[in-house]
Amino acid sequence: HGFLRKNEENEVRTIFRLLNMEDSIRIIDAKTEFLNALQNISSSEDKRKIIGRKFIEVFVNYIKNNNLSFNYFAQGTIYPDIIESGGTKGSKVIKAHHNVGGLATELLKENNLTLIEPLKYLYKDDIRELGRFLNVRENIIMRQPFPGPGLAIRIIGIITEDRLERLSEADYIIREFLNSKYSIWQLVVILIPEITTGVVGDRGILGDVIVIRAVNSVDGMTATPVSIESSDLMELSSIVTNKINGIVRLVYDYTGKPPGTIEWQ
Ligand code: XMP
Repeated sequence: HGFLRKNEENEVRTIFRLLNMEDSIRIIDAKTEFLNALQNISSSEDKRKIIGRKFIEVFVNYIKNNNLSFNYFAQGTIYPDIIESGGTKGSKVIKAHHNVGGLATELLKENNLTLIEPLKYLYKDDIRELGRFLNVRENIIMRQPFPGPGLAIRIIGIITEDRLERLSEADYIIREFLNSKYSIWQLVVILIPEITTGVVGDRGILGDVIVIRAVNSVDGMTATPVSIESSDLMELSSIVTNKINGIVRLVYDYTGKPPGTIEWQ
């Protein structure tokens, strides 16, 4: 969908290569199609639903165009996705996750695809335990969670290719800097585009804000902010605002969950 983090596609390829399974993955580049479908969409709920539907459309079109035939569609839904989408008894909608509330079930049905979700009754920490039981490599087990809709829900408001590029670059710089120095369960970098006044040379501009959110958690249902040295934040602010045109401010989010969810939207 074009909303992965910088280098992530290669990292995934490498994982499959190490497992001698490189031939069993096909990566479809549908970035343009996703960007078109999301043009002028600013609500994160709408983004999730559009992305959930596009995932299935792209998959179905690919199998049709290549004369392939599949019986199953598998996804890594976990229990919190179902709870937050209001899919359990007594739970209210917090957000309609792309793979639950936004899932195009009728498209799957029309194409005779049976949905498989082997992890759907497990929390993140249960899944890590299961991974260890199955001898999955520790670096894969301990990969930080990353939402299915990716950077699309970390750009507040309308998504453009420029904004995506800026966020991807900022996210990369910040991850490289913080992940080697701190123990972080999940690091979230958010772009709030064109809302704040900045100065470039002697000119005022309407610039972007980058928000950093680093949290510790066990299962993602609650979270506490990680304490980052202010000198590190100052250094990062200077690097990010100097390196990336249009970003004029960097702030750190100290909020726990509750009340703030881990993602901003
Ligand atoms: P929140 O923001 O709800 O996040 O506190 C809890 C965990 O869920 C991830 N998350 C998502 N994962 N699709 C996903 O696959 C989504 O739409 C989505 N929204 C949040 C989030 O990154 C965190 O690990």
